Amino acid sequence: MAVLLTGGAGYIGSHTAVELLSAGYQVVLADNFCNSSPQVPRRIEQLTGKPAPIYQLDVRDADALEQVFKENQVDAVIHFAGLKAVGESVERPLLYYRNNLDATLTLLEVMAKYSCHRLIFSSSATVYGDPERVPVNEDMPVGGCSNPYGRTKLMIEQILLDAAAADPGLSVVLLRYFNPVGAHPSGLLGEKPNGIPNNLMPYITQVAAGIRDHLNVFGNDYPTPDGTGVRDYIHVCDLAEGHLRALEYAETHRGAEAFNLGTGVGYSVLDVVHAFERANGLTIPLVFAPRRAGDLPAYWADAEKAARLLNWRTRRSLEQMCADSWRWQRNCD
Ligand code: NAD
Ligand code: WQD
Repeated sequence: MAVLLTGGAGYIGSHTAVELLSAGYQVVLADNFCNSSPQVPRRIEQLTGKPAPIYQLDVRDADALEQVFKENQVDAVIHFAGLKAVGESVERPLLYYRNNLDATLTLLEVMAKYSCHRLIFSSSATVYGDPERVPVNEDMPVGGCSNPYGRTKLMIEQILLDAAAADPGLSVVLLRYFNPVGAHPSGLLGEKPNGIPNNLMPYITQVAAGIRDHLNVFGNDYPTPDGTGVRDYIHVCDLAEGHLRALEYAETHRGAEAFNLGTGVGYSVLDVVHAFERANGLTIPLVFAPRRAGDLPAYWADAEKAARLLNWRTRRSLEQMCADSWRWQRNCD
């Protein structure tokens, strides 16, 4: 019995593959490497001593995807494959709708054809739009996303809810990630953004590495304790463990269920900078810049539902996220 990880060569997928293999699962990866390296599956095998077979394919290619199901007894899928750059989605919305929606629809059709009934989906806290209050819990309304990327996640959640309503045998878990950061402590896996990083942590590590001159802090006039934006940063290894729990949950659960995957604690940009400096004994030069369009002042997760129903809580500190991020940056130069 195997678990298929679409997008499994990516940042979160690769860390989840290590977690599943270490827990005794058999995994199969499928990825077109549009945002990852073909080196990753070998590193997963190096870290676990177990096989991580990879099918280089576009999930939208039904014939290619069927081959995976023909050659492996796939009994669950974790669907990581998708484009995720908010800014790019605004410039190229059709690319995002085509890629993220078509991949999901093709995957669902092939899963049905091969009687595969368990699907874990990489959703995002962005589906909450501008929440009426924080912390955000799963009963709060979704919608009002500020960009096409977020809207693809919202639409895919709706597609999965409808598919689960039509097929009582289907088990769907929607995992709403908050802000994944960090890297595997070995320094062999991590996130390697193309070009100028949009996200805070990879930008900080590139400043620390001398690749960028300084960090621009986007706004210090928000209604937050120190005026800078507040987010729920979660270590990618904690996130990976959450997928293991979700897979177990989906074995006995039918229908569709959403879970926030976050720490339940919000940290400001300056909190992250100071934690990074403490954890790594470095100074991060920064400049206070204007707010970034589309940014919300503050949001973080109410993580109680995942604790209660998935028996999962995060374990790693902000300092560990910073130390592991910096180790990866040094290794991947
Ligand atoms: P990532 O880009 O590192 O991984 C995505 C992987 O999917 C990449 O390896 C890419 O090559 C592959 N891929 C994309 N489209 C594909 C297609 N059509 N066919 C085959 N492979 C395809 O991103 P990540 O950070 O690991 O995110 C994984 C998932 O989690 C994404 O769906 C993303 O939207 C979601 N997510 C990420 C974050 C975050 O901040 N990283 C937050 C919330 C949700
Ligand atoms: C975090 C904080 C910025 C960079 C994004 C996506 C979201 C999800 C997670 C996919 C904010 C500040 C950042 C910088 C800064 N991805 N910042 N200087 O925007 O919360 O979420 O990634 O699902 O969809 O929107 O994360 O890391 O970009 O920003 O001051 O150079 O850091 O203003 O307050 P964000 P981020």
